[in-house]
Amino acid sequence: MPVTIVVGTQWGDEGKGKLTDLLAAKMHFVVRYQGGHNAGHTLVVDGQRFPLQLVPSGILYLHITPVIGNGVVIDPKVLIEEIKTLESRDIDSSALKVSGNAHLIMPYHVELDTLHERHLGRSRLGTTKRGIGPAYADRAMRLGLRVQDLLDRDIFHAKLKVALNHTNKVLAKVFNRLPLTPEDIAEKYLDEYAPILKPYICDTVALLHEALEAGQNVLLEGAQATFLDLDHGTYPFVTSSNPTAGGACTGSGIGPLHVTRVVGIAKAYVTRVGSGPFVTELFDEIADRIVDVGVEYGTNTGRRRRVGWLDLVMLRQAVRLNSLTEIALTKLDVLSDIQQLKVCVAYKMNGKRFESIPYHQSVIHQAEAEYVEMPGWSTDISGITDPQQLPAAAADYLAFIEDAVGVPVRLVGVGPAREQVLERQTCLQD
Ligand code: IMP
Repeated sequence: MPVTIVVGTQWGDEGKGKLTDLLAAKMHFVVRYQGGHNAGHTLVVDGQRFPLQLVPSGILYLHITPVIGNGVVIDPKVLIEEIKTLESRDIDSSALKVSGNAHLIMPYHVELDTLHERHLGRSRLGTTKRGIGPAYADRAMRLGLRVQDLLDRDIFHAKLKVALNHTNKVLAKVFNRLPLTPEDIAEKYLDEYAPILKPYICDTVALLHEALEAGQNVLLEGAQATFLDLDHGTYPFVTSSNPTAGGACTGSGIGPLHVTRVVGIAKAYVTRVGSGPFVTELFDEIADRIVDVGVEYGTNTGRRRRVGWLDLVMLRQAVRLNSLTEIALTKLDVLSDIQQLKVCVAYKMNGKRFESIPYHQSVIHQAEAEYVEMPGWSTDISGITDPQQLPAAAADYLAFIEDAVGVPVRLVGVGPAREQVLERQTCLQD
């Protein structure tokens, strides 16, 4: 099983970090392939919480080489802070490898992200304001600076000059802002950040292919999720990269034929942060309860997440888009004690019924959910270690999902700790 992809199937925060950490036990490399520090995942090991943003989840294992791939956008200040925090807690990060082809988030990207959002007013996307979108935009405009540019002062200065020549005009003429001086930025990036990051920077594509040739296992870890994908998500309420499985190949430099397993992480319900359509969104006391019990607040931004019932129309689409071989369902314990559960099986609009995601955005913005109601369970399942001990209603919930989406629900999360994941034998074939 050389390459496994872990991908979120909803709008993020499905618990990818924890599942990646679990699956990482059998891996040699864990690679982040897109996004930046807009992501946030919390690992809980031996009661200790490790909130990570950029460093891949496998960092907590000594046998793993964590890799930040070429598809990631990196704010060097944040990466350095994260490395320092890990080291202050005695986690050795010296094995970390950072792709020289990954792009740098520059101070003006952060400023532009905030300014864009402010100018959009009520139409704002609700970005994390970390500079992610502007950094990817500069990459596409061929104005970006890459991590490898930190290692060559002349190239860094030359590229920064070109980038600022453009960006300062935008800042002044569009946003009425003062221009930025290249000297201040270069001093930080070249004199402060570059010497610290230099030992980590390398050709990660060569490194990963040598590992594959030696028969080693690689896990490709996505950030955000399928419906935040720039191409396949609820555009424009999406992030600026490709979290879907195809993005794992481009963002790591590994071709698709190496991939043998694609694990889709789905929460037992759905959450979303930021703006955008959400067909199964709840606004009642069940929403408050799920937010409380599931601690549904952003790891990074602290924002309360929007919550709703599980949406199988989305999940079926995620199976298709990512070639999922299986699903890991997280936070099933959060649904305990809700008497009647609902699962969305189709969308309805103007007398039409959609079992798969309608391509036109107006439908997804206005559609109503068609639900199947299922009885809940009132037992606390967080201490269960054998899937056979799950209450019948919980087992039915899982079987219903498998039946509807056509892939097995192999792993089930029943609590925040690494050990609170059940591995099921399911009736469905891999
Ligand atoms: P950006 O990625 O900061 O540009 O934000 C674009 C959209 O993606 C916003 O709706 C964010 O709330 C959302 N988003 C970005 N990263 C995450 C994440 O890790 N989890 C959940 N939502 C995210």
